[in-house]
Amino acid sequence: RKTITIGLLGMGTVGTSVVKILTEKANDISQKIGMPVNIKKILVRQLDKARNIDIKVEFTTSIDDIINDPDIDIIVEVMGGMNPTKDYIVQALVAGKHVVTANKDVVAKHGQEIFEAADKSKVDFLFEASVAGGIPIIRPLKQCLAANKISEVMGIINGTTNYMLSKMANEGLDFNSVLAEAQAKGYAEADPTADVGGFDAARKIAILASIAFGSRVSIDDVYVEGITTISTEDITYAKELGYAIKLLAIAKDDDRGIDVRVHPAFIPAKHPLASVHDVFNAIYIKGDAVGETMFYGRGAGGMPTASAVVSDIIDVARNITHNANSRILCTCFSQKSFCPVQN
Ligand code: NDP
Ligand code: HSE
Repeated sequence: RKTITIGLLGMGTVGTSVVKILTEKANDISQKIGMPVNIKKILVRQLDKARNIDIKVEFTTSIDDIINDPDIDIIVEVMGGMNPTKDYIVQALVAGKHVVTANKDVVAKHGQEIFEAADKSKVDFLFEASVAGGIPIIRPLKQCLAANKISEVMGIINGTTNYMLSKMANEGLDFNSVLAEAQAKGYAEADPTADVGGFDAARKIAILASIAFGSRVSIDDVYVEGITTISTEDITYAKELGYAIKLLAIAKDDDRGIDVRVHPAFIPAKHPLASVHDVFNAIYIKGDAVGETMFYGRGAGGMPTASAVVSDIIDVARNITHNANSRILCTCFSQKSFCPVQN
C-alpha cells in the first residue's frame, strides 16, 4: 500500500474545510501517517455547483460509486441529516470501509446499530467532531478519563445558540437577526430549529452521557427546552441582576439514577461559563479520581470542526498502516441500562 484513499460525503461548510486541511497540510499529514492521504471521490447533491477546490477529484451523486470503489479505505461523512445518511454509513461499514463522521443526529439515534456494524466488519468508526466541534471531548471522555467513575458532564455545547445569546447580550441585537448571522457563518444546522430548539445540544449530551456513564442514553431520555422564547429584554434584565443566560446541557449520574437535560439557565456573571462567548463551547466533567476538568474551544464552524474530522482520519489511517483497526468501539451504545431520575 502506498496511499490512504478517501471518499468524502458532502462538501459544504465542514467538507470544504476538510479538503482545505488535507491539501494545505498534505506533507505534515503524510509524515504523521507514513504515506499520503488522497481524496478520490466526493458525493454531493448538485454536480453543477461551483466548488472552491484546487485538487483533482471526481464529484458524484452516487453513493454506490464510492462504497463499491475498492481503492477507497475511509468514508468521511459530512453531509449531515438522518436520511439517507444513516443508511450510507451502515452500508459503508458493512462493505468494510472505515467511517469518520461529524454527524451527531445519526450517532445519538443509531449509535447501537452503527457500532454493531463496525464491530462485525472490524473497522473503525470515529465521531470526534460530532460533539463540540473542534474541542477534543469524545476521546478524552472515553479514553483519557477511563480510570474514573464520571458523575457529571455539564456545559455549553451548541455554538449557534451561544453565539446568538452572546450577541443579544453584548450588542442588543434581536433573535432573528443573530440567528441569520449564525447561519451565514456556517454554525447553524441545515434546519436551525435543531439549534434554537435545544435538540442539537440534546443529541450531543446524549452521546456524552452514554460514553460517560457506560449506559445508552437516547435522545428521548433527554429533557429539552431551547431558547426560542428568550428575548433581548430577558437577557438585558438578567444582566442587570448580575446573570448571563446560557443554554446548558447537563448529565448527572448519582444514587437516584441518570438525569439528562438541556435548558436555558441563569449563570452568575462571575461563573466561568458566563464568560464563554461567541461560538465557543465549554464542558465540565467531574470524575471521582480526577475531580473537575474543563474543556474549552470553538464548538462550530468549518475549520474547528474539520480539525476534529481530519484528526480522526489521521487516527484511522495510522490504524490501517499498523493493522490495528476496530480498537475504539463504544460498547456503551449497546447497553440499555438507562435509569431516569424519578422527579
Ligand atoms: P452543509 O449543509 O454546509 O453541507 C452539506 C453537504 O452535504 C453539501 O455539500 C451537500 O451537497 C451535501 N449533501 C447533503 N445532503 C446530501 C445528499 N442527500 N446526497 C448527497 N450530498 C448531500 O453542512 P455542514 O458542512 O455545516 O455540516 C455537515 C455535518 O457536520 C452535519 O452533520 C453537521 O451537524 C456536522 N457539524 C457541522 C458543524 C458546523 O459548524 N457546520 C460543526 C460540527 C458538526 P451540495 O453541496 O451539492 O448541496
Ligand atoms: N449547529 C451546531 C452548533 C454545529 O451550533 O453547535 C456544531 O455541532
